[in-house]
Amino acid sequence: MKSKLAGKIVIASHNPGKLREMRELLAPYGVEAVSAGELGLAEPEETGADFVANALIKARAAAEGSGLPALADDSGLCVEVLGGAPGVFSARWAGESKDFAAAMARVHSEVAKSGSPSRRAHFVSALAVAWPDGSEAVFEGKVFGDLTFPTRGTKGFGYDPCFTPDGHERTFGEMSAEEKHGIPADGSEALSHRARAFQMLARALLTASQAS
Ligand code: IMP
Repeated sequence: MKSKLAGKIVIASHNPGKLREMRELLAPYGVEAVSAGELGLAEPEETGADFVANALIKARAAAEGSGLPALADDSGLCVEVLGGAPGVFSARWAGESKDFAAAMARVHSEVAKSGSPSRRAHFVSALAVAWPDGSEAVFEGKVFGDLTFPTRGTKGFGYDPCFTPDGHERTFGEMSAEEKHGIPADGSEALSHRARAFQMLARALLTASQAS
């Protein structure tokens, strides 16, 4: 069976960290990834109401601008008692200076203000693929857990130190990258929302026979 994602694709992100992670995930399938930044493509405004909508906006713009299949992701933290906030505003809660300590403090204070004892939250990652011919595919990975305050750990990024996934005692901030984002070789479910979305994408669009 031929993979629907093969050869050269564009990663619709200007974030070097995301680009590196995607390149590493795609390399074993023989997919070569260039970034929207390297191709000089403009970053579209993320005006979507949810993660899937924003990922599609980015993937469509990159496919149209490059003439290549494009992969985009959008992700964030959703807190139950805050009606899903910060959600698509997760990056924006950290402000221009990307101050995630302040963003987590805001989550803590808004949850406390709500008066609810619930600390339930989940991370979401939407991966969207758009082809120059207009076809599209989306995959959404989630991981559920509890907010943890005071925050713990220095290993991850963003909201990692304030989130403990179900079935675990440690926060994402206390886990190694491999434990959080790794794709298990035995085919069992990965832990992070992004790794879970990638597993779905790989099953649908990449073929194991391409793996080296
Ligand atoms: P975007 O996907 O670049 O729009 O940004 C999503 C934001 O959500 C990031 O800036 C992070 O703050 C947060 N986020 C998404 N995934 C994770 C994660 O795995 N750990 C911690 N924070 C995350």
